[in-house]
This record gives sequence, structure tokens and C-alpha cells, in this order.
Amino acid sequence: MPMDELFAAARAVRERAYAPYSGFQVGAAVRSRNGHIYLGCNVENAAYPSGTCAEQAAIAAMIAAGEKDIAAIAIVGSAAEPCFPCGACRQRIREFADGATRVLAGGTLGAERIDTTLDALLPHAFGPEQLPGLTGLEG
Ligand code: THU
Repeated sequence: MPMDELFAAARAVRERAYAPYSGFQVGAAVRSRNGHIYLGCNVENAAYPSGTCAEQAAIAAMIAAGEKDIAAIAIVGSAAEPCFPCGACRQRIREFADGATRVLAGGTLGAERIDTTLDALLPHAFGPEQLPGLTGLEG
């Protein structure tokens, strides 16, 4: 099943996270509209604010591959409870996904995952469509 595959990919890449300061490892997997999966994990830094989120890395990988449309995203953290994207990452996802986009959130309780939408996580969002003609989305 495609969503199971996406979730498993996020859980697998979580193992590569570099999170020596928080001890909280996160993996993210983005499925693009073309069906490809892009992976990311959090990468922390001794200068704390320079660390990056897993979602940010997965989105960057998608963009670097030449794609701009997120069909679904899975995020898996290393606490028991599901890991939801931080506020900044909700906005980062919104740049490339519409409100109906499915967001899967998981933790270490294997099968337990929350299946929600971006609209539920970021209602009344400000997105690129609010800036018509300025986004370069046409090209
Ligand atoms: N983190 C993510 O990578 N994604 C999230 O959705 C939540 C938080 C990371 C940032 C930091 O490295 C660690 O988890 C603790 O906040």
C-alpha cells in the first residue's frame, strides 16, 4: 500500500538523523505527484539554531530533483507519541501542497500513526496562491 510504503520510508530514514543535542530523531518522506519518494532527517548543529528539520530536508531533496508538488508526507519521530511537523515546517509543506494533502505522523509505537491533512494542521493558511503572479509557479 502506498501510504504504508511512505510511512516505512520515513521510519527507516529516521535512523540516519543526526540529533546529538536533542536526542530526538526524525525522519520524513515526501511523495511527489509523480510518485517519487524523497527522504530527509533532522540534522542538528553545535550552534543550535543552525539545525534543520527532517521535513525541510525531504522538501529540499524534492526540489533539487526538479519536482514541486507534494502528494503526501510522512513524519516519524523517536518518541512514543506521533511527531507532528513544527509550525515552520507546516508552512514549508504548504508551499508545495494543498490543504487536502495527507500527512502521516508516527512515533515509536510502530503501527500507531495519525493520518490527517495539511488543512487540519494549518487552517486558513497563507500560501503561494495569495501572491498571484509573484510565485513563478507558472513556469
Ligand atoms: N524536528 C524535526 O525534524 N521535525 C519535526 O517535525 C519536529 C522537530 C527536529 C528538530 C530538532 O532537531 C529535534 O527534532 C527536536 O526539536
